[in-house]
Amino acid sequence: MAKSFHAQWSSRMTFILAATGSAVGLGNIWRFPYLTGDSGGAAFVLVYLICIALIGVPILVSEWLIGRRGQSNPVNSLSKLARESGRSQGWMVVGISGVLGAFLILSFYSVIGGWSLSYTLSSLTGEFSGQDAATIEGLFGDFLGSPGLLLLWHSIFMALVLGIVAFGVNRGLERAVRVLMPALVVLLVILVIYGIFGGHFGEALAFMFAPDMSAFTGDVILAAMGQAFFTLSLGMGIMIAYGSYLGQDVKLLGAARTVIIFDTAIAILAGLAIFPIVFANGLDPSEGPGLIFVTLPIAFGGMAAGWILGLIFFLLLTFAALTSAISLLEPVVEMLEERTPLSRVPATVVAAFAIWGLGIAALLSFNVWDVPVLFGLNIFNLLDTVTAKILLPLTGLGAVLFVAWQLDRKSVESELGLSGTTATVWNIVARFIAPIGVILVFIFSF
Ligand code: PHE
Repeated sequence: MAKSFHAQWSSRMTFILAATGSAVGLGNIWRFPYLTGDSGGAAFVLVYLICIALIGVPILVSEWLIGRRGQSNPVNSLSKLARESGRSQGWMVVGISGVLGAFLILSFYSVIGGWSLSYTLSSLTGEFSGQDAATIEGLFGDFLGSPGLLLLWHSIFMALVLGIVAFGVNRGLERAVRVLMPALVVLLVILVIYGIFGGHFGEALAFMFAPDMSAFTGDVILAAMGQAFFTLSLGMGIMIAYGSYLGQDVKLLGAARTVIIFDTAIAILAGLAIFPIVFANGLDPSEGPGLIFVTLPIAFGGMAAGWILGLIFFLLLTFAALTSAISLLEPVVEMLEERTPLSRVPATVVAAFAIWGLGIAALLSFNVWDVPVLFGLNIFNLLDTVTAKILLPLTGLGAVLFVAWQLDRKSVESELGLSGTTATVWNIVARFIAPIGVILVFIFSF
C-alpha cells in the first residue's frame, strides 16, 4: 500500500466491530464490577451511567470526528485541523497525552490479562471443581503472592499482544469479534440466570441500583467518571486513530449509540452475574481487583460441568482483553514508527518491552512491593489512578473542547447530520455539559 493512501475500514460494520473490540474488555468485566463493589454500589453505577450519556457520547463522537477529518494519527490529525482552522498547534498535546496514557494503561492491563490466561488454564485442569469459597479465595491469594507466576502470565499475555500487533493480523481478529462478542454476551446471560436461581439476586439488584445518598462522595464520582473513559477507550487517541480510517458515509452518532449500548450492557450484565454470587457466598463486594477471579470460579466450581463454562468464560475474557490490548499498543507503535527511524516490527518490540518492564513493577504491587510510592498508592494503583482518573478525562476534555469550540460549528453540525433542535442539543451538551461536567468532577473530588 502506498504511503500516501490512508487505509479505510472495509465497511461500517468492520469499524463498529473494531471500536467495540477496543471498548469491551477487562474494563467491563473485571474493572466495572470491582469498582462498583469498592465504591458502595448503586451510587457509582448511577454516576457512571450519567457520565456515559453526557460525557462519553460527545467525547466519543468528537474523537472520531477529529480522526476522520484529520485522516492521520492522533498527533498529526490535531495538528492539521488546528492549522486549517487557524488554531494553536498546542492542541497537539491532546494527541501526545493520549499516547502516554495508552503506554501506562497497557502495563497494568497486561498483568490482569495474564490473570485471565492463567484462570483459563486452571478452569481447564479442573482446579476449581467442587471447591468451596474459602479454598478458591485461598488459591487466588496464593496466586497473587507468587511474583514468578504473575510474571510468567504477564509475559505470555504481552508476547501475544506483541505478536498480533507486529504481524498485523488485526483484520482476522476483527472478524473474530463478530462471533466472540455475542458469545460473551450469551455466557454472561447464563451466569445472570444462574444468579437469579442460585444466588442472592434481589440483594444484588438493590446493591447495584438502589443508591444510598451518603455514598455520593467525591471519590466515588471521580472513580465513576474515570470508568466511563476507561471502558469506552476514550482520552487515548485510539478512537481518533479509528476515526481516521473512516469514510464520510458513516453516521457518527448512530455508530456511537451502537458501541455504547453494547459496552454498557456488557458491564451491567457482568455486575448482575457477579454480585448474586458474592452475596450468596458471604463474600466481600469490596474485595478489590480480585473480585471476578474469586467469585466466578466459585460459581463455576459449583455447577455441573461448570469447568466447561469456566473455560469458555475465561477464554472469551482473555480474547476481549487482547482486542483491547492491541488497540492500546497500536498508538504507541504508530508514534514510534513515525517519529523514530524504527520500522514496524522493531518499533513494536521496543514498545512492548518497555510496557512489559513497567508491568513488572505493577505486578510486584500485589506481593513483595505492596508499598505506597506516591499519594499513598502502590505502583499498580498509581498507574490505574493517574490514567483513568486524570490523564484520560483531561485528554477527552481537550478533544471535546477542540471540536465544540475550535472547529467551525456549522460544519460540525452538518457532519453529524444535525439541524434545529438536535443541533441545539448537541451544542449544549458538547460545549457546556460535557466539559463542565469533567471540570466539576475534578473540582468536587479534590
Ligand atoms: N476499553 C477497554 C476495556 O474496557 C480498555 C481500554 C482502555 C482499551 C483504553 C483501550 C484504551 O477494557
